[in-house]
Amino acid sequence: MKTRILGKDLEVSAIGLGCMGMSHAYGQPSDKKEFQNVISHAIDDGYTFFDTAETYGNTLDPHHNETILGEVLKPYRNKVVIATKFGIHFDESSKEVNKPLIVDTRPETIRKSVEGSLKRLQIDHIDLYYQHRNDPKRPIEEVAEVMQQLIDEGKITHWGLSEVDKDVIERAHAICPVTAIQNRYSMMARWYEKLFPTLEKLNIGFVAFSPLANGFLSGIYHGVSGFDKLTDYRSVMPQFTEEAYRQNADLLKLLDDMAHEKGATKAQISLAWMLAKKDWIVPIPGSRNLERLKENASAADIELSEEELRAIDMALDSMKMSAVYGGVKTK
Ligand SMILES: NC(=O)c1ccc[n+]([C@@H]2O[C@H](COP(=O)([O-])OP(=O)(O)OC[C@H]3O[C@@H](n4cnc5c(N)ncnc54)[C@H](OP(=O)(O)O)[C@@H]3O)[C@@H](O)[C@H]2O)c1
Repeated sequence: MKTRILGKDLEVSAIGLGCMGMSHAYGQPSDKKEFQNVISHAIDDGYTFFDTAETYGNTLDPHHNETILGEVLKPYRNKVVIATKFGIHFDESSKEVNKPLIVDTRPETIRKSVEGSLKRLQIDHIDLYYQHRNDPKRPIEEVAEVMQQLIDEGKITHWGLSEVDKDVIERAHAICPVTAIQNRYSMMARWYEKLFPTLEKLNIGFVAFSPLANGFLSGIYHGVSGFDKLTDYRSVMPQFTEEAYRQNADLLKLLDDMAHEKGATKAQISLAWMLAKKDWIVPIPGSRNLERLKENASAADIELSEEELRAIDMALDSMKMSAVYGGVKTK
């Protein structure tokens, strides 16, 4: 697969693999055999960028994702970039399917988190360590100072921030250079495009999470009825309701037309669209389906011209859409 550079020097596959769904929020967690199979196929497909977090787990094992990923990625350690995150945990006592987040970015918590992640991932340094959410009660400068210390100590080599705005990015970067942000970004969630000038100016990459709007943009799902109400967040996501399918008919048609034109799938067009925007954008779709892993990887080979990009954006700007998990269309 083609590669891209995040920040100054972090080389990653143009499409990364989001590993969250194998442990959290997308139905029953994968067992080790399934995990291993997905990861070895992903390696064969050219993925070198793997995304996890200390908090991707479930009630039985709150760190399920890191623990199994660490085991199955071990043989490939020297060819892959491992990104993980600190600073939140889920309120497992909640009865909601999408559990509330508890944010904690105190230096002593980060210190504990980094040691836990290194141990579970069975590595001696983390390639990209993100703050998962900003804690408005604590200065971001304090977190950035801890990141600089961790870099100096060799425990991490790069750091980043997830779901952040311009002010936090600029203040953090001034203390310790940020390699990438990881924010929600898809054709249905474009509100962080306003950060592009800041990211360009500071040479910070944009890792796009939920780039398929949680799978919706693939067009293969129809309604929430197939999603497990206890373990699958999609069962309560607004874009999967029947009403939303009606509201998003134009969006799905746009993707369908473009897909036919390019001999591609809707999911591939959704990924190729963001890859074409900036060469420092890296989507990390999640999948445990081997065919879709391959399909998503091939999106890196689909080229969209400036003109095609402009036409898609104009259509997206003017069409009605439903809400999507995480927000509503802003223009
Ligand atoms: N920083 C954060 O706060 C944050 C938040 C959310 C997610 N993330 C990261 O971003 C990654 C991706 O986000 P996400 O999993 O929420 O959303 P996503 O990648 O937009 O969608 C994942 C869903 O789409 C399906 N899918 C993937 N490729 C497909 C294809 N080609 N055709 C049809 N369906 C397809 C997957 O199902 P199958 O498995 O059945 O293919 C899965 O249900 C996560 O794994 C995680 O690492 C970070």
